[in-house]
Amino acid sequence: MRPVLIGLCGGSGSGKSTVTEQLYANTGSERCTVIRQDNYYKDQSHLSFEDRQKTNYDHPFAFDNDLFIEHLKLLREGKSVDMPEYDFSVHNRKKETIRLEPKDIILIEGILLFSEPRILELLDMRIFVDTDSDVRILRRIKRDMKERARSLDSVIDQYMATVRPAHLQFVEPSKRYADIIVPEGGYNKVALDLIQTKVDHILNSRKK
Ligand code: CTP
Repeated sequence: MRPVLIGLCGGSGSGKSTVTEQLYANTGSERCTVIRQDNYYKDQSHLSFEDRQKTNYDHPFAFDNDLFIEHLKLLREGKSVDMPEYDFSVHNRKKETIRLEPKDIILIEGILLFSEPRILELLDMRIFVDTDSDVRILRRIKRDMKERARSLDSVIDQYMATVRPAHLQFVEPSKRYADIIVPEGGYNKVALDLIQTKVDHILNSRKK
């Protein structure tokens, strides 16, 4: 039986990572693998740091979707892949890669999963994490300043210039392709329990 691919999409700061991490923790590393679209931002080594700061990281062009889709297909066929690693503080791909092994459940996380038809058609289940924009920007400010070496001004400027417009153009309309919409992401215990029940059901049906 091939792996089951579950896509988790939603705006920046929506709580995709929290939902993904909870599903991963409850399912266990023996039977579950996580792959993130963020790791597939294009390699920008040919650009200076200043130029890399100007990239629109919320537009589909910023992603190496060809490689991402190739890796999704390989995992779906039960083959392992070497996922690139990404460093948000320098806006570039790292030299190292991470070996991902195919497991029964593949969790796929990203802001632009559902706006790409080639990704949509590979997904067995599509979950959209839906969180109000005021909550998302507040989370993003905290996260980017703490974990991604950003200043408050840079987070606000980027949000107004690229994050918000791309969210309205690409992410929000892609919600229509979801099978399940989870309001308030990681804090929606009822929704998480329901999804976990479905995942457990899939796993139990594959035991023998
Ligand atoms: N991004 C950035 N600088 C880069 C690359 C990406 O600021 N060099 C930002 C993009 O603007 C995009 C965001 O990273 O909006 C994508 O990550 P995000 O969805 O915010 O984080 P996750 O932890 O994956 O998701 P969530 O906050 O929903 O848990």
